[in-house]
Amino acid sequence: MEKKPFRAVRVSDRVYWVGAIDWAVRDFHGYVTGRGTSYNAYLILADKNILIDTVKAPFRDEMLARIASVIDPARIDSIISNHSEMDHSGCLPEMMRITKPQKVFASAMGVKALDAHFRIGPQIQAVRDGERVRVGNVNLAFCETRMLHWPDSMVTYLPDDRILISQDAFGMHLATSERFDDELPADLLREEAAKYYANILMPFASLIARLPEKLKANGVDPTIIAPDHGPIWRRGAETILTLYSAWAVRKASRKAVLAYDTMWGSTQLMARAIAEGLTAGGSSVKLLPLGSAHRSDVPTELLDAGALLVGSPTINGQVFPTVADVMCYLKGLKPTNLIGAAFGSYGWSGASVTQLTEMLRAMNVEIVSEGISVNYVPGPEDLARCVSLGSSVAGKLNALYS
Ligand code: FEO
Repeated sequence: MEKKPFRAVRVSDRVYWVGAIDWAVRDFHGYVTGRGTSYNAYLILADKNILIDTVKAPFRDEMLARIASVIDPARIDSIISNHSEMDHSGCLPEMMRITKPQKVFASAMGVKALDAHFRIGPQIQAVRDGERVRVGNVNLAFCETRMLHWPDSMVTYLPDDRILISQDAFGMHLATSERFDDELPADLLREEAAKYYANILMPFASLIARLPEKLKANGVDPTIIAPDHGPIWRRGAETILTLYSAWAVRKASRKAVLAYDTMWGSTQLMARAIAEGLTAGGSSVKLLPLGSAHRSDVPTELLDAGALLVGSPTINGQVFPTVADVMCYLKGLKPTNLIGAAFGSYGWSGASVTQLTEMLRAMNVEIVSEGISVNYVPGPEDLARCVSLGSSVAGKLNALYS
């Protein structure tokens, strides 16, 4: 193999990071990754060498070079696949060809998913939830984390090292040359971890809420949490566990998010007037004009919000495409505890407000107003109604969250 300049990074006495950094990726199945990402794989060097997860297929050579900086890849004895999504399993068939491992471990659902992806067949051994396995002198504890992020997901705990290899959970999309949380600014870590949680894990909040208890019941008590994306939590393992517990209960606040798009500026005028009413009423307001904001900014801002107001012009009897896109995306992410309303301008048919109101209802948002439709350009009376809607929503948020 051509010698490449990539090195493994030591995580503990016998655990190494051997992943890849993707500085270029800006779209991760619909989520904008403005700072890129990393695909983390881990190598345990012991009397039996174990690789945990692999990387996205185009990054195979980078991972192999990092492994080769500490060991001949052919000396890997076992592979663990914590999660079958292609960003972690993309190189698994190739690694199996190279290493001819004695064992490949995955959850029962993981075995099925990997077979459906790669037709690997029965070479992979399913491990049970809570099962403990000793490979050489390495003790491994497996714990299923179904739906975090896929049905196959599991985590691997090294009790002797107190390292939790947590696959997608506790990760973030962030490409950096630093590998550990204590080498990066805390506000950057929080921002990207929150965005990741909101866009990837929010629908599974009830499972996240039960996760600490489940991990504890399985004897998982980590000092290091090593996810499959972004930095390794070496100093802040407790911090990220605490943040996840808080996000899981989605503690809302007096913050309102206004997500809207506009054709000729009228719906934008309405959004600004509503925002004035909200601000005057004591709410914190975040305007997200969808011509420039990305869909993934909306759930991120909703993580601590109490209200969602959505604005759209009517175009050919429908909601504007950027707004429809966001509503579809949000419905899948299932944000809870929201009040809301719709607004928008129209030319000859005001269908968008009715349609948006129905979409909000379908998301279990509590509708606090029938919404405001304005013909063409809002005049002073229309804008006064918008300010009044903002004040009314602020009043409700005050009553809920004071
Ligand atoms: Fe990072 Fe669900 O894959």
